[in-house]
Amino acid sequence: MCGIIGYIGGGNAAREVYQGLKRLEYRGYDSAGGAFLNGDELVVVKKQGRVEKLLPFIDGLRATAGIGHTRWATHGAPSDGNAHPHTVGDISVVHNGIIENYAELKSELVADGAVFVSDTDSEVIAHLLNKFYDGDLAYAMKKTVDMLEGSYAILAVRRGVQRIYAACNKSPLIIGYGDGENFCASDEPALAGKCDGISVLDDGDFAEISAEGVIIYDGDMQAVIREISPNLAVCENLGLGDCPHYMLKEIREVPLSVTQTVKAFAGAEQKLKAAFAGVDRIILTGCGTAYHAALLGKRYFEIFAKIPAETEIASEFRYKNPVIGKNTAVIAVSQSGETADTVEAARLARGLGARVIAVTNSRRSQLNRVADAVVPVAAGVEICVAATKSYTGQVAALLACAFAVAGYSYAEKAGVFGNIAELCGKVIENIDASSLAHLCSRSRGVYFLGRDLDYAVALEGSLKLKEISYVPGEGYPAGELKHGTLALIDENTVSVFLITDERLAGKCANAVEQVVSRGGRAAVITNVNGVPEKLPECVEHIILLPECEPYLAPFLTAVAVQTLAYRTAVILNRDPDKPRNLAKSVTVE
Ligand code: G6P
Repeated sequence: MCGIIGYIGGGNAAREVYQGLKRLEYRGYDSAGGAFLNGDELVVVKKQGRVEKLLPFIDGLRATAGIGHTRWATHGAPSDGNAHPHTVGDISVVHNGIIENYAELKSELVADGAVFVSDTDSEVIAHLLNKFYDGDLAYAMKKTVDMLEGSYAILAVRRGVQRIYAACNKSPLIIGYGDGENFCASDEPALAGKCDGISVLDDGDFAEISAEGVIIYDGDMQAVIREISPNLAVCENLGLGDCPHYMLKEIREVPLSVTQTVKAFAGAEQKLKAAFAGVDRIILTGCGTAYHAALLGKRYFEIFAKIPAETEIASEFRYKNPVIGKNTAVIAVSQSGETADTVEAARLARGLGARVIAVTNSRRSQLNRVADAVVPVAAGVEICVAATKSYTGQVAALLACAFAVAGYSYAEKAGVFGNIAELCGKVIENIDASSLAHLCSRSRGVYFLGRDLDYAVALEGSLKLKEISYVPGEGYPAGELKHGTLALIDENTVSVFLITDERLAGKCANAVEQVVSRGGRAAVITNVNGVPEKLPECVEHIILLPECEPYLAPFLTAVAVQTLAYRTAVILNRDPDKPRNLAKSVTVE
């Protein structure tokens, strides 16, 4: 799972590949590399660490073609040796995906005398290409992929051949058409500002790319035409402004994400309503933060549209033989629209006859192509690996969907979203999470607890804190505390209670008592009048949020827990934008 880029043409190939890799870093950043056709030479550079590490080694090149890779390790630890490209003979290869039968292939190749120098699955591709090459790399590519099981987007170059050869199956690959130059990449944002037209390759396609043109072949090596459509990726201003990190900048953009998403929803409303005609059951699915947004979406559909709704983690859903009828709507939530588990869950649902609705921050992604209707999240580009503004955008989109399916017109509810944005703005301006963050940074475990909608945000708060500060913890339903979790509580743990529903406030306050009477440290994030007075005196940290209807509170508590996670990570000197071991978009299953 990784990002790949290729460039060929009259420009500076090393610079083009480097810039493309910078834009693809969200797909992985534990190592990076490139292979460049530099005159008669094939120059290969690969380094463990961020893309920047390549720069000193490629700066002086005058290459006319190059392929590059930014990695998120699946097979083999992050290291210089396991970084791509992999080179055998005169052929270099970059690969995104997983070769499931690599162990068998490797044994056969080793038996034939091949010497492997990495622990990756991808190296088998380089060996196979080298083995099958007899003067025609396109033919070698076909022979190679015929041997592969799994998912792959592959780019290959050979010393002395002014071409890039590509193949893909279940991993995305797009072609970008320039003037005297051509590109290929894992996704459209990598080509922002680089070319006007793009084609998306189908599963099983091959491409032979030169500066003058691109020939695409289907799986039978018959030349085919893939539609060329406008490149929608725009070069946005992705600077940090006055923020030290993208995470903080993106939390500050939460209000804009809500208002823009709802504006964009107006254009999708009719199609959504049509897709929902006759629907009597809804399944919402996604991974990570997107799944947590789905949990809130489920409640919105139940509260407003009165349609039974369930949630399923996308990677689980696929293997459960789900019972789906033609009146089932499956809502797949994904910031990137490229998460393999979510895309495959949507494909499966569609195959079983469900109406598939994508809720995504991407205007063109695999998920969009699978879906019957797309509900846009207009959060803008999110750079920080930990999702913040895209989460609140997803929740806003799901609330807008629930309103629409419930029969409310866009105009009737527009004010609600204006209100949310305004209240989020107030939270961002006034919140002080620093002293609680210090406590969390020193703790052995942080537990986020809440009931109903607060529980959904508790899960997200816990995920956010774990992923960027590495402080362990969990999100729990507050009522379940007494059924097990209480055993974990001692003076080295912090329990953060979210209390935003007056009906449940008394019961949650009891849970706070249970924690403090066992010596645990407790904090409360609330907007319910009278709650602070009900709490035991030893509750050290109370974060007050503006009052609002309970169904809107998740937007405010989300900003609060995001800010708490951010502050904790900064105190611990972690990089909140690029947490260890993670990638923003996980395109392998
Ligand atoms: C990765 C990211 C998470 C994200 C999840 C789903 O695990 O690290 O932050 O929530 O993927 O991503 P998606 O693009 O489908 O929303």
